Amino acid sequence: MSELVVKNVTKRFGGLTAVNDVSFTVRGGEILGLIGPNGAGKTTLFSCLTGFHRPDGGSVEFEGRDIAGWSPNNICSIGIARTFQVVQILQGMTVLENVQVGAFLRHPGAAAARDKAIKVLDKVGMSKRASVKAVNLTLPEKKRLEVAMCLATDPKVLMLDESMAGLTPTEIQEATGMLRQLRKDGLALIVVEHVMEAIMPISDRIMVLDSGAKIAEGTPGEIAKDERVISAYLGDKYVKRCKV
Ligand SMILES: Nc1ncnc2c1ncn2[C@@H]1O[C@H](COP(=O)(O)OP(=O)(O)OP(=O)(O)O)[C@@H](O)[C@H]1O
Ligand SMILES: [Mg+2]
Repeated sequence: MSELVVKNVTKRFGGLTAVNDVSFTVRGGEILGLIGPNGAGKTTLFSCLTGFHRPDGGSVEFEGRDIAGWSPNNICSIGIARTFQVVQILQGMTVLENVQVGAFLRHPGAAAARDKAIKVLDKVGMSKRASVKAVNLTLPEKKRLEVAMCLATDPKVLMLDESMAGLTPTEIQEATGMLRQLRKDGLALIVVEHVMEAIMPISDRIMVLDSGAKIAEGTPGEIAKDERVISAYLGDKYVKRCKV
């Protein structure tokens, strides 16, 4: 099983330390939830792990190599994919064509890439939307399309940045069902989400960031009881509302 080992990663923007000495490990067949208040450094951490930012310190080890500072293309090629908090899809192309772009990474021929894209759309439940222009999708559909684009690259590690934002409770059930299936397939998932009802039940472990630093890591049950996490992020209301 693949393992991503992050050690002491730090990222500064001028005088602001957006990610401060963060270490963790995630393995294939596991969902790691990543939570924390706005500005905690979650998206910046994703960008450090996927080549969009070069960390100022620390290492990112995957399959025996330190990939910190590699380009996004090379990181995607070795099997690490991420979605974006603000969706990055090709608005003028159809759903199928968008997914085909991802599939080209491992299927250079157009027909093979198309076949792969069709399979992936089936997996994420978007087959019926294949010929729709991406610009005409709803925001939750755009987010799902971005997940499909990632899956078309056959990742071993998949990082999702608020992919379930804006979903109805029924749609959250569908989305979490898909994530559970991906975990069963052996992927390692890191899931950033503010919707606690979505992330708490599916995560094997939760890591909490606050002001760039990791303040807690544990099972959802442990995290829900953690005084520091309650005061930094969850709040008393959550604890009363949701018994994990
Ligand atoms: N490119 C950048 N240049 C300067 N500062 C940045 C940059 N990107 C992020 N920041 C700052 O780094 C900090 C962490 O931001 P980040 O977007 O990683 O937080 P987040 O945990 O993803 O928050 P949210 O839950 O709102 O998405 C914030 O203070 C943000 O303003
Ligand atoms: Mg973010």
